[in-house]
Amino acid sequence: MGKIYKIGIIKGDGIGPEIVDEAINVLDATASKFGFEIQYEEFLLGGAAIDETGIPLPPETIAGVKRQDAVLFGAIGGPKWDNLERHLRPESGLLGLRKEMGTFANLRPAIVYDELVNASTLKENVVSGVDIMVVRELTGGIYFGEPREYGQDKAYNTMVYTRDEIKRIAKVAFDIAMKRDKRVCSVDKANVLEVSQLWREVVEEVAQDYTEVELTHMYVDNAAMQLIRNPKQFDVMVTGNIFGDILSDAASMLSGSIGLLPSASTGSKVGLYEPIHGSAPDIAGQGIANPIATIASAAMMLRYELNEEEAANSIEDAIKKALSDGYRTGDISAFDAKEIVSCSEMGSIIANNISKS
Ligand code: IPM
Ligand code: MN
Repeated sequence: MGKIYKIGIIKGDGIGPEIVDEAINVLDATASKFGFEIQYEEFLLGGAAIDETGIPLPPETIAGVKRQDAVLFGAIGGPKWDNLERHLRPESGLLGLRKEMGTFANLRPAIVYDELVNASTLKENVVSGVDIMVVRELTGGIYFGEPREYGQDKAYNTMVYTRDEIKRIAKVAFDIAMKRDKRVCSVDKANVLEVSQLWREVVEEVAQDYTEVELTHMYVDNAAMQLIRNPKQFDVMVTGNIFGDILSDAASMLSGSIGLLPSASTGSKVGLYEPIHGSAPDIAGQGIANPIATIASAAMMLRYELNEEEAANSIEDAIKKALSDGYRTGDISAFDAKEIVSCSEMGSIIANNISKS
């Protein structure tokens, strides 16, 4: 009897259910191929939770995800819930979930698939071979800082980081760099912000324990520009919550579509695996979403959480094969497409590639 894994499933809103269903298909294909079993348990979050229970993060979800080996998540939010008070919005549910789970380290790889090198809006020689890991701090910074207040004439938020919060995210970045090209670029705004001054000092201190890793610092405005100018200069980028949110969206376009890039939110007992894109309400329910980011997130889950490296590789190879065979969802249809396929067709093609490999 092989291993049994418990995976929490949060489909969420918009295209969430469609893309998560395809990731489940693909996970099932890897389970039968590599001889393990997956037990899924579904939980509500975001708009779906609001509709059912009145709040975006029900207590059953908080308690339930903690019983899992890992959690796979689609996306949340949509115009239907945009006018609710802030603490009742779907986004507050996701932020609360990350905080409750303690997943402070968000790994957002930006890689360019050779097959899609023409899909980027940037020139091929700029993006081909790009392989960046953005390490975004996820449970602190201005997203969570107190005090915060909205008033009609004055509103404010607080950007706060403690030494310990900076230290632990820096360690994650250096550990990852040790397995890659051994270069870390820490991104901040130390020329203006005190919080960044501390960030820089602490990252420097952590670097003392990683003498093999080359550390550089960059201001966030320059980093945004450098990502577009010459992305290949980066190996690992480490940054705070809001800078990481912005830079990872920018980095995603190096790959051609935000529909391609996965993420892993780790750092605690149970990790949360989610595509970096949102719920795309404009295309929800049409079956045209790209499930690759979520499927690739499932691969990260197998690798980082369940230690099923071979299964993770098989998913990544299956995605590359689907692309090199010319299958494209709408978002990447303009580039060397042999056949435009739906969300569920893309999922089946990838799952079949795994079963046949
Ligand atoms: C992301 C999203 C979220 C964030 C939103 C939906 C709260 O943009 O995962 O990048 O800002 O973290
Ligand atoms: Mn974002």
